[in-house]
Amino acid sequence: MTRKRILSGMQPSGKLHLGNYFGALKNWVSLQDEFECYFFIADWHALSSLYEDPHRIKEYSFEVAVDWLSAGLDPGKSTMFVQSEIPEHAELHLILSMVVPVPWLERNPTYKEKRDEIKNVDMSSYGFLGYPVLQTADIVLYRADYVPVGIDQAPHLELSREIVRRFNKLYKKKVFIEPGAKISDIPKLSGVDGRKMSKTYNNAIFLSDSENEISKKVQSMLTDPARARREDAGDPDVCNLYPFHKIYSPKAMQDEINSACRTAKIGCGDCKKMLSQTMLEGMRPMMEKRQEILTRPDEVKEILREGTLKAHAVAKSTLEQAKQAMKLK
Ligand code: TRP
Ligand code: SF4
Repeated sequence: MTRKRILSGMQPSGKLHLGNYFGALKNWVSLQDEFECYFFIADWHALSSLYEDPHRIKEYSFEVAVDWLSAGLDPGKSTMFVQSEIPEHAELHLILSMVVPVPWLERNPTYKEKRDEIKNVDMSSYGFLGYPVLQTADIVLYRADYVPVGIDQAPHLELSREIVRRFNKLYKKKVFIEPGAKISDIPKLSGVDGRKMSKTYNNAIFLSDSENEISKKVQSMLTDPARARREDAGDPDVCNLYPFHKIYSPKAMQDEINSACRTAKIGCGDCKKMLSQTMLEGMRPMMEKRQEILTRPDEVKEILREGTLKAHAVAKSTLEQAKQAMKLK
């Protein structure tokens, strides 16, 4: 029996943080055992926002690969590769761009949202409008059955399915398969300032942070704002820290904090100390793995090279079939 195939990508727009880990990467790691997995570094996608300083993309790609391996992506189980090493992504993107009506892209809710939300770069490019078309090429080249995505990416995947149907109908052949979304529930994690954890907000805890940096960040975390003084009772349900306890601390500790916070029996300082400890303990295996990986950086590049080689063969064969269906070959 052949396993179903999973494909997903991440933009190398910086080192990965706990939001990326719990939002995607952790899920990828567990999918490896059940599915045939392809994971790629979406460096061409990263150009949509980094076109003003593209030189950073190479360095970020390496960092992301190290983050992946530290977190447990296993080259023995998954194929990891770099998008820009496989020109078929660009070629299929071009072909698909001829059959996708622009209004399909313009009505995409994430497009407008992101375009207006990102203030430091002009996101009105042609390439950014076509982002979901490139993303469709990424997916269908590997005939992925499922794509693990956050709920916010669900409209993109629906668009991919529409594009597949249009292509297959136009050229009367089931060249591509419609990818399904594999939506995982994601714990809501904020950054140290209470806003969504994000590199651009400067509020993130990175997978590559040192123990010292992590402890400092935990100490600086915004807690329940109603607890202005030590004697004030708090509410873990509105506190940014508590969701991290739910992830990292044993159940008994969570329960104890939950009641002791509400009666002001513990202060936020104590609570943060406890979190620092359990978080560091939880992150330690990843940190140790990273140290080990960084002693052999060439191996990281080799893993990507091998993955790219394998992925390239698949992409080539799919593109060939697409061109044959179109009688271009
Ligand atoms: N859009 C994804 C992100 O921003 C990256 C991505 C590019 C992707 N192509 C993909 C994800 C194909 C899944 C499948 O993180
Ligand atoms: Fe948050 Fe802990 Fe302070 Fe309660 S005691 S407000 S859970 S940091």
